[in-house]
Amino acid sequence: MKQKVLMVMVAILAGFMFLAVGVLTATDVPEQVTIENTGYKKDKKGPVKLAHKKHSAEYKVACTECHHEYKDGKNVWKEGDPVKKCSECHNPKKKEGKVLKLQNAYHKNCKSCHKKLVKAGKGKAPFKKCSQCHQKKKK
Ligand code: HEC
Ligand code: HEC
Ligand code: HEC
Ligand code: HEC
Repeated sequence: MKQKVLMVMVAILAGFMFLAVGVLTATDVPEQVTIENTGYKKDKKGPVKLAHKKHSAEYKVACTECHHEYKDGKNVWKEGDPVKKCSECHNPKKKEGKVLKLQNAYHKNCKSCHKKLVKAGKGKAPFKKCSQCHQKKKK
């Protein structure tokens, strides 16, 4: 009898540990992300590969340059918090209030930083040539 109770407790504990690990891995920082959303009025361009880890580790770009969660106009997202997809808040079809349309949100985020860097003579991050970010579209 006692043993049975113990078994059940071990099982429950194992369940919790499984959950905890699941939550932890969900916030693992991916090496690379392929940005390919659906829901655009027209999907004209191919997917974009982002060297995700390289941006923070090598290029020293803070997570908060790209990830945010606004509260009273302030970005309250911090490293370790769950990461939502940009498309959860930025609608691919239209601007909602001051929340940019998905395509514009990405372009503003990626291109303005790159443009600033290039103008300042710091490297050659792409912001003009579409093909430096967008892959060829699969037919
Ligand atoms: C710095 C990188 C970057 C550059 C340069 C860039 N884009 Fe994008 N663009 C993105 C990202 C990231 C997305 C989001 C992709 C997605 O959601 O599938 C995107 C989305 C789009 C979309 C909407 C989604 C789709 O596939 O149709 C269009 C249209 C688009 N870009 C056109 C352009 C054009 C035209 C140029 C060149 C003048 C360009 N982009 C240059 C990063 C870039
Ligand atoms: C240059 C911009 C940029 C930087 C810097 C950046 N990220 Fe990201 N991250 C992204 C984009 C874009 C995605 C994909 C979002 C999407 O698909 O909607 C992403 C995805 C993620 C995901 C995966 C979410 C999922 O759906 O699986 C995690 C976790 C994450 N980032 C954490 C971090 C952490 C932690 C840092 C800082 C150490 C960081 N990111 C730095 C742009 C960035
Ligand atoms: C939890 C919801 C949410 C998520 C997830 C989110 N955004 Fe936003 N984003 C907002 C809101 C709300 C604003 C408007 C903030 C304001 O102007 O007060 C905004 C503003 C922006 C702006 C304009 C800010 C500026 O500096 O002018 C850009 C660019 C942007 N988001 C890009 C992204 C990208 C890229 C991702 C994914 C990596 C993303 N957002 C994920 C809610 C979100
Ligand atoms: C706050 C600054 C910042 C933001 C935001 C940013 N980048 Fe970059 N990016 C850089 C820097 C720095 C480099 C390296 C430039 C160099 O050394 O020539 C770079 C380089 C690149 C390169 C070429 C080299 C490589 O490693 O692949 C691509 C492609 C790229 N970024 C895509 C993106 C995309 C897509 C986004 C938006 C989701 C983005 N970046 C957002 C700073 C940024």
